[in-house]
Amino acid sequence: MKEESGHTQREINELTDRFQLKPMGDEPLVIDDAQGFRVTDGNGKEYLDAISGEWVVNLGYRNPEVADAVIEQVNKADFVAPMYNAAPRALLAQKVVEMAPGMDKLLFGLSGSDAMEGAMHMAMRATGKDEFVCLFQAYHGRTFATIALSYTHPSMYEGAKKGLERYTTRQVRVPNFNCYRCPFELERDSCDLFCAKFVEKMIVEGSEGGVAGVVVEPYQANGGMVPAPDGYFQVLRDVCDRQGVALIADEVQTAWARCGEFFAVDHYDAKPDMIVLGKAFGGGFPMSGVLTNEQFGKLSDWEYGFTEIGHPVASAASLRMIEIMERDDLPGNARRMGERFGEHLGAIQERHPLVGDVRVLGLMIGVELVKDRTTKEQAWEETDWVLHACLERGLIVGKTGPTFPPPRGNVIKFKPAVNITAGVVDDMCGIFDEVLTEAEGKFGYSNTNKGE
Ligand SMILES: Cc1ncc(COP(=O)(O)O)c(C=O)c1O
Repeated sequence: MKEESGHTQREINELTDRFQLKPMGDEPLVIDDAQGFRVTDGNGKEYLDAISGEWVVNLGYRNPEVADAVIEQVNKADFVAPMYNAAPRALLAQKVVEMAPGMDKLLFGLSGSDAMEGAMHMAMRATGKDEFVCLFQAYHGRTFATIALSYTHPSMYEGAKKGLERYTTRQVRVPNFNCYRCPFELERDSCDLFCAKFVEKMIVEGSEGGVAGVVVEPYQANGGMVPAPDGYFQVLRDVCDRQGVALIADEVQTAWARCGEFFAVDHYDAKPDMIVLGKAFGGGFPMSGVLTNEQFGKLSDWEYGFTEIGHPVASAASLRMIEIMERDDLPGNARRMGERFGEHLGAIQERHPLVGDVRVLGLMIGVELVKDRTTKEQAWEETDWVLHACLERGLIVGKTGPTFPPPRGNVIKFKPAVNITAGVVDDMCGIFDEVLTEAEGKFGYSNTNKGE
């Protein structure tokens, strides 16, 4: 079957292989048409998208109101260089700063990675120091400075290994929070948030030249879909204040109602100095930014910036997205639909021995698959099979998980559009349930929970 471009799915896949370098995964799925929570491939097959296009289209695809805002802006001024000013850019910055208590200014960027570098610039300028604390399994981007803060996926540094050290930031890597697999092998009810307290020890004793900032995702995404425990941010806030370093929250994935609040840090009673934004920020268009408080919000002229930052069309899309989210209380919807997912997935966990842990914060959801609930041995092969079986049945889910030991990925992720409805949540969970039953048949699991 020919898709609208006049080419078959197979032809598009072949053209892609022939002419593109594709260093971010390679599924032979051509998305020809996308609307709401659904996409259609080049063969006319329909899928439910449980990952909102890599959590970029938080209102689903082709939201008609966002599309109107985009068309209006294209018909007015489709580009305005960054040294000039533009209404959508100005109004968006005002809106976003006002939404985030304690923040003073917004620095626009293009991708999550370059925005993170913007935050690093500001932290270095304000402190006069140049090292960053980052967590095991963290992911903050793939530019040369941010790669150093990210978990070291073998293939991430293979290509650039020679000489990479000359460019990358100095980092102080500390054990992450993960109450299911605590790197310190402690228990949550008695650990006294040792993982957060340990950060101070590393700033003082683990750094050679002095730390400029602590960078942390409030819900560690690529590292396995793990939420920060309650109290974690309060401890980090105190540590950063005592040590005079910036607390930088990487909300590239977690902002824009994803976690049931506009920003995930709204769940915690502690304000970071900077919040890094990306992905869904542009309402489906490339846009990122750094929210910063007054203390850290200083850059000298030309120190940071890219030609197309604060693109007026992306700004118009973003403004309209935020208006819709506020009008329709989509953070509230994300909380309610997250609870619904939680109920389904809790029941699924009871029935399926493969499910080791379910982690839900709004619509930021990870389901960790294990071979055995006592040893927690990761079910790598099974997870990959489940991902592809879901695809086969018309459900797009994601896969992530700790990098070491390879192979990577024993956590299935659900991050659907934040305006998702109850019926669609039920459909997604229904397909997942059936696929798990099939997987357990195929891999020889019995339905009595192992290790219990
Ligand atoms: C938490 C986090 N920070 C930063 C980034 C980098 O964003 P980008 O790929 O837009 O550069 C990502 C991308 O996946 C991310 O998940």
